[in-house]
Amino acid sequence: MMLLRTICSISVLMVASLGHAAEPGAAKYSLSCAACHQLNGKGIPRAFPSIVGAPSISGDSKNLINLILRGRGGMPPLAAELTDADIVAIIGYIRGSWGNNGDPVAVEEVAAERLAAKL
Ligand code: HEC
Repeated sequence: MMLLRTICSISVLMVASLGHAAEPGAAKYSLSCAACHQLNGKGIPRAFPSIVGAPSISGDSKNLINLILRGRGGMPPLAAELTDADIVAIIGYIRGSWGNNGDPVAVEEVAAERLAAKL
């Protein structure tokens, strides 16, 4: 019980420390994307591109959804790891962070791309 309580408070602290505790996409971003693109979105020079101000974030939603589902180059496909709702939350978070912009996507848009890609 004690252990469980400790684990719970640690995870609450981890989410809170992201500074976007109310944003479900923040926690999902930190788990699935931040290892490469970093918590601040700036990536690692010559290894992982910055996604701060990247046209691919504010641009066509279909391209962004497909990039996350299928991966590209050194970015692994994440279709098996993320649900449609996870991808909606992550896109909402990255489009609303670091001065990026773009509209939220609907879960139906992600589902349609997943179906089209037969993933
Ligand atoms: C294992 C490392 C890794 C992970 C995890 C990863 N990416 Fe990437 N990402 C990359 C690499 C490498 C590229 C460059 C791909 C290329 O060469 O075309 C990239 C490219 C991108 C781009 C395009 C950037 C540009 O310059 O247009 C976006 C947007 C992006 N990633 C978002 C994400 C999101 C959102 C997640 C989590 C759901 C994620 N990535 C997870 C490594 C990663």
